Amino acid sequence: MTLLKGETDGSSLVDQARNLIADVSNKTIRKKKCNRRKLVVSRTLKKVNVNVGILRLQRLFWLCQDAFRGPGTVPSPVHVNRLCHILDIMKPEDVGLIRDLHFFKTKREQKTNARVVYTTIYKCQNFSLCIFFLPEGAVIPLHNHPGMTVFSKLLLGTMHIKSYDWVDPTASESSRSLSRLRLARLKANRIFEAPCDTSVLYPTSGGNIHEFRAITPCAVLDVIGPPYSKEDGRDCSYYKDSPCDAPLEGKESDNRYAWLEEIEMPSDSEMDVIEYLGPSVSLT
Ligand SMILES: [Fe+2]
Repeated sequence: MTLLKGETDGSSLVDQARNLIADVSNKTIRKKKCNRRKLVVSRTLKKVNVNVGILRLQRLFWLCQDAFRGPGTVPSPVHVNRLCHILDIMKPEDVGLIRDLHFFKTKREQKTNARVVYTTIYKCQNFSLCIFFLPEGAVIPLHNHPGMTVFSKLLLGTMHIKSYDWVDPTASESSRSLSRLRLARLKANRIFEAPCDTSVLYPTSGGNIHEFRAITPCAVLDVIGPPYSKEDGRDCSYYKDSPCDAPLEGKESDNRYAWLEEIEMPSDSEMDVIEYLGPSVSLT
């Protein structure tokens, strides 16, 4: 994903999303000043919940350390199952998100198209943990994940996801350059509503090229291994799809195909970056 540092204007989505990422324990204590007894009970319960959440994030981090072994590798099926299991039960609170805080303006209130906002929880050479915030109607256009395995967990909101895999993922550069269009098979084209199970994509399967379209404001936790790196040949490419209606020789008729054409990064899909202020992970 190509990311650009954005400027912060007073009412921007960046500010609204920054407010969303908060220290849950601090907020709990502030809210409960009026009733001492309730305060003690609430503090205790919240502390338990917060600790459970932090533990889930920390377990996810440890699993990532085990599962992602660097460029050119894919997590084993056992590691994939373990990562999916922990991500499936993760909640917005686990990464410091407050479920009922209204941080996105409605589409009617937005003067211009609000941009997608992105924050990094942790990043190393082998993997990264990050959260994408999409306002209503925002789109992350069709893009690829070269050589990567990506786990996506929708934490908040309702989102339409369309994804493709290359029909011939091993096609050489020279054969590809003969045509600007490349054939892809549709993998997913449906609506996801939080809470829902984790989606996994692999270097050549599972919908490696995907598009996110937010139906309501959304937050998505992505585990990416290895992360994008232009220097290491893992830059992000963008695509435009067009339907392939004619039957294709030798292809199964129940699969749906499309022609994908590589395009420049759409100018309206630039993202803003914000600091992550949720629970941190311990490296030890
Ligand atoms: Fe992606």
